[in-house]
Amino acid sequence: MKYNTKILSTDNVLLKNIGVIDPLKIDEYVAKGGYEALKKALKMDRKEIIDTVSDSGLRGRGGANFPTGRKWMFTYNAKADQKYLIINADEGEPGTIKDRILMEGDPQQLIEGMVITAYAIGASKGFIYVRGEYRDSIKTLRKAIAQAEEKGYLGNNILKSGFSFDISVAEGGGAYICGEETALIDSIEGKRGEPRLKPPYPPVEGLFKKPTIVNNVETIANVPHIITKGSEWFRKIGAACSPGTKLFMLSGDVNEPGIVETPLNISFTEVIEKFGKGAKDGEIKFAQIGGSSGNIFTPEMLNKVWTYERCCEFKVSYGTGSIFVCNDSRNIVEHLLTVAEFFEHESCGKCTPCREGTHRVREILEKFAFGEGTVSDLELLKELCLVMKKSPICGLGQACINPVLDAIEHYKSEILAN
Ligand SMILES: Cc1cc2nc3c(=O)[nH]c(=O)nc-3n(C[C@H](O)[C@H](O)[C@H](O)COP(=O)(O)O)c2cc1C
Ligand code: SF4
Repeated sequence: MKYNTKILSTDNVLLKNIGVIDPLKIDEYVAKGGYEALKKALKMDRKEIIDTVSDSGLRGRGGANFPTGRKWMFTYNAKADQKYLIINADEGEPGTIKDRILMEGDPQQLIEGMVITAYAIGASKGFIYVRGEYRDSIKTLRKAIAQAEEKGYLGNNILKSGFSFDISVAEGGGAYICGEETALIDSIEGKRGEPRLKPPYPPVEGLFKKPTIVNNVETIANVPHIITKGSEWFRKIGAACSPGTKLFMLSGDVNEPGIVETPLNISFTEVIEKFGKGAKDGEIKFAQIGGSSGNIFTPEMLNKVWTYERCCEFKVSYGTGSIFVCNDSRNIVEHLLTVAEFFEHESCGKCTPCREGTHRVREILEKFAFGEGTVSDLELLKELCLVMKKSPICGLGQACINPVLDAIEHYKSEILAN
């Protein structure tokens, strides 16, 4: 492992082996109880596995929070001669590094989760779509896959169960949009990665038009633990309505940047204070949660506990779990402009509101950055953002204006005074 991200929490589930075992020695994973879940799962009925995951309340950790068991049922029920499982390890969201740590620090946890998932949904072929820049993740995964095959946990007739499944590592196309699941599927098919119009959704018609489950790395890393310890155990972790742990990444103006695994029962302020040793060089002015398209949280909002349900109520999201802390020396317009330039570059250009809108958002913010913005510019910016929230065909265009709208709500006078 060559990354230098610190693990800041100690009472961990998904991160417990990281830095403890050698990721390239499968025997060390097995000695820690690894592959016991797979042995148990292969004796279970496939539907029973899906029911266990549904009962656990596990939701996708890639940003959209969709219930994992419910998604699996679509593919389980689909009639097809071939089904696929794809792991989304594109991890293009700035400030997000959790999937890399899971892949490079404990790759067998992910592989075990994949084999159980594939068995449950009836897939015989799997892909891990890894962000192209993650060279170490790609190398580590390829070696780990070979070791799992050698030990009989992967490949033909896994543990003599009659079930066969193999995994290939696909290297990412180098664009943020390739993390969107249908763009990712197109990219694996060898096409330019652009979102598809939905429906049909991938669980019914995905890779090569076959039923396909796309899940995030962190989502699937939870699966072996849920199978071994049961859905009740998972439900008891954290808030009743948002069970399990979540990985959060602290960056920006924080004394101790790093990764934290915590149940969803503490506020973001507590995460920053307890694990990140507080804000650096000043007071917290705001934090952007969940990456560049994430919401801007004021200090007052950061003091609250944000379960998934509470996020829905207040129409915000913790997305991938990145927490970018900004102290009181930060200029909100400069922050928004950096974000807008990122999305102007990353918009794939397939639909007009996003292709044109991201340019216009950047242009108007640039006026404010040069001290030339007016009240009517701000009104136009808000109107444009509200149109973009509704009209683009994928989540990039719909969400990239979230921080701008939040800033207009909470920091309007500062934007106008810039
Ligand atoms: C522009 C865009 C980028 C995305 N990037 C990622 C990503 O890097 N990793 C990820 O897991 N999900 C990403 N997603 C969400 C995926 O489309 C999909 O919802 C997710 O992989 C499903 O997995 P989950 O149910 O386990 O969360 C992205 C979505 C959009 C709209
Ligand atoms: S919203 Fe943006 S990124 Fe998504 S399809 Fe349209 S142009 Fe492409």
